[in-house]
Amino acid sequence: MKIVITKSYDEMSEKAFEVMKQVVLQKNDAVIGLATGTTPLGLYNLLIKACENKEISFKDIKTINLDEYKGIDKSNKNSYHYFMQQNLFKYVDINQKNIYIEKGNAECDLAECKRYNELLDKFPQDIQLLGIGSDGHIGFNEPGTKFDSLTHVVNLKKSTIKDNSRLFNKISEVPKQAYTQGIKNIMNAKKILIIANGKNKAKAVQKAICGPITEKVPASILQLHPDCTFILDEEAASLL
Ligand code: PGA
Repeated sequence: MKIVITKSYDEMSEKAFEVMKQVVLQKNDAVIGLATGTTPLGLYNLLIKACENKEISFKDIKTINLDEYKGIDKSNKNSYHYFMQQNLFKYVDINQKNIYIEKGNAECDLAECKRYNELLDKFPQDIQLLGIGSDGHIGFNEPGTKFDSLTHVVNLKKSTIKDNSRLFNKISEVPKQAYTQGIKNIMNAKKILIIANGKNKAKAVQKAICGPITEKVPASILQLHPDCTFILDEEAASLL
C-alpha cells in the first residue's frame, strides 16, 4: 500500500490526476472505475482540463461507476448518473455508450445486480477510484458488508444518509437504499486509487490503514490489495 500525504485538497487532486493520467496514457481503452461525492470533484476538473488541452482523451475509455441510489431515474438531479454527467462526462470526449452505472430504477434487483457483475467480469477495472465514508465505507458498502460481496442493494446507514443529505434539499429526500458494487468487485480492480480530505475522514482513514482488517471497516480490506494508493490531505492523514 502506498500512502501520499499532501498539503491541501488541490494538491491531493493533482496527485490523483497524475495517477489517473498515467493509466489513460498507457492504455487508451482503459476501464476506469469512478466514484461520486465531493472528494473527486477537483480530480474531475483536472481531467476535464486535460481533455480540453488534448493531453488525454476519453474516446475509447470505458467508465464503470461504483453505485447509484435505488428508486430514482437517471434524469433525477440527485441520481449519480446526473452527477457524473454534470461533473465530468458532458465536458469530455467520452462515448455515452461506454458509460456504465447501475440503473436506479431497475425493475428487478437481482437481475440488475447480475447484469452489473457480468459487466465487471467482462470489463475489469484497470483502475478504481474510491472515496471513503466517515464510517469507513467504500462505494456504499457499509460496515458489516461481507468482503466477498458482489453488486447488491444496501440499506443506507443513518450516518451515510446524514452525510449525503448536504447534496439534497432536505434529509427526507435522501433515498434509503442504493445499488453498489460489492467489495469483491472493487478488490478485483488492477489498481486502486483512494482519496480523502478533511478532518471528518481522519478516523476512517486511520482505521483503514492502521487498524485490523475487519468487515467492521470496509476500507481496511484495501491493506490486502496488491496495488493500492491512498492520497490524503494533511487533515485526513492527521491520525496516522
Ligand atoms: P464524499 O463521499 O466524497 O462526498 O466525502 C465519499 C464516500 O462516501 O465514499
